[in-house]
Amino acid sequence: MLQNDLLLRTLRGEKTERVPVWMMRQAGRYLPEYMVLREKYGFFERCQTPELACAITIQPIDIIGVDAAILFSDILVVPQAMGLEVQLIESKGPVLPDPIKSLSDLSRVRIPDVNESLGYVFDAIKLTKKELNNRVPLIGFAGAPWTLLCYMVEGKGSKTFDKAKAFCYTQPEAAHQLLQMITDTTIAYLKGQIAAGADTVQVFDSWGGLLGPDDFENFSLKYIRQIVAALKDTVPVIVFAKGAWYSLDAMAATGAAALGIDWCITPAKAREIAGNNIVLQGNFDPVKLLLPIPEIKKEVTKMLNDFGGHNHIANLGHGIIPSIPVDHAKAFVDTVKEWRPNN
Ligand code: CP3
Repeated sequence: MLQNDLLLRTLRGEKTERVPVWMMRQAGRYLPEYMVLREKYGFFERCQTPELACAITIQPIDIIGVDAAILFSDILVVPQAMGLEVQLIESKGPVLPDPIKSLSDLSRVRIPDVNESLGYVFDAIKLTKKELNNRVPLIGFAGAPWTLLCYMVEGKGSKTFDKAKAFCYTQPEAAHQLLQMITDTTIAYLKGQIAAGADTVQVFDSWGGLLGPDDFENFSLKYIRQIVAALKDTVPVIVFAKGAWYSLDAMAATGAAALGIDWCITPAKAREIAGNNIVLQGNFDPVKLLLPIPEIKKEVTKMLNDFGGHNHIANLGHGIIPSIPVDHAKAFVDTVKEWRPNN
């Protein structure tokens, strides 16, 4: 039995003694302990070595006291397993030197045997579950098909992902074929994570908000829906489509247990759109963690009051940034842990 199952009880819709808290990208460059391992090992080496992935996953549990661990890995291990080369370049972020441009490029992409190509992730999950020793639940994850297509077509990070959008609009047949291949791979991949011990999974659609509502339905939600349907009877599924607040109602209808929101929508408005029967996760602006600690406490308290203390998982509205001091991240977590409704 888990010693701290606040997150899982909240995901089941139960009333809990306090709001659970974790942070997207909680294992990362703001932690000096992470930087020590980053000096010694390459990014994918850290992902592919279960002992390293496990050690990095557990760092924020010990150091800042979050209520859940999220496996250290990356969404881009899936395009890699599907046959594309992915590099992580120090100052540039992810680079895919040979991106998908047309239907004929799809011959270079395969639906892999996930046990063969991503077995290292399952091994990392098994080891992490053992090392966590039931302290907190472990969150598995994958990128949403649309967000993975963004990188597979654009070949690198972008603010607008013009090439990826143009690919979908001008070559919809190829786009849908690719999206379905990613979806099939992702379902097998997340099932493998769950079999290895992940207690819940989050689907990251970081670039969902680049699409208007109709295109979000056509190129993103249609595939997220398949993923949620395949998993939701086994573990609770969290869907985070950053910026796609206009589709919170449609996302709630997928059967997801929780929906992530960013800071560009108020908790009240998000609740109004999503309805009352779903958990909301978020939505602190990560840059506000640069404020002095007393102001962080004030802002976090306001966020908690706005969500109301039930059906809420406290989190950031996107990943933590490397310049955040560790004691500021801890102030975020501690404020959530100390807060009670009607304070
Ligand atoms: O949340 C966690 O702590 C778990 C680990 C995790 C990472 N990436 C580790 C990582 C998770 C859940 C991700 C997801 C991810 N990866 C997303 C979706 C979430 C989001 O932030 O929108 C995306 C879009 C990626 C792709 C990616 N990986 C980018 C754009 C970058 C470079 C930018 C950056 O933040 O450095 C990465 C690298 C990456 N993934 C790092 C970490 C800790 C930094 C690597 C390093 O320099 O050490």
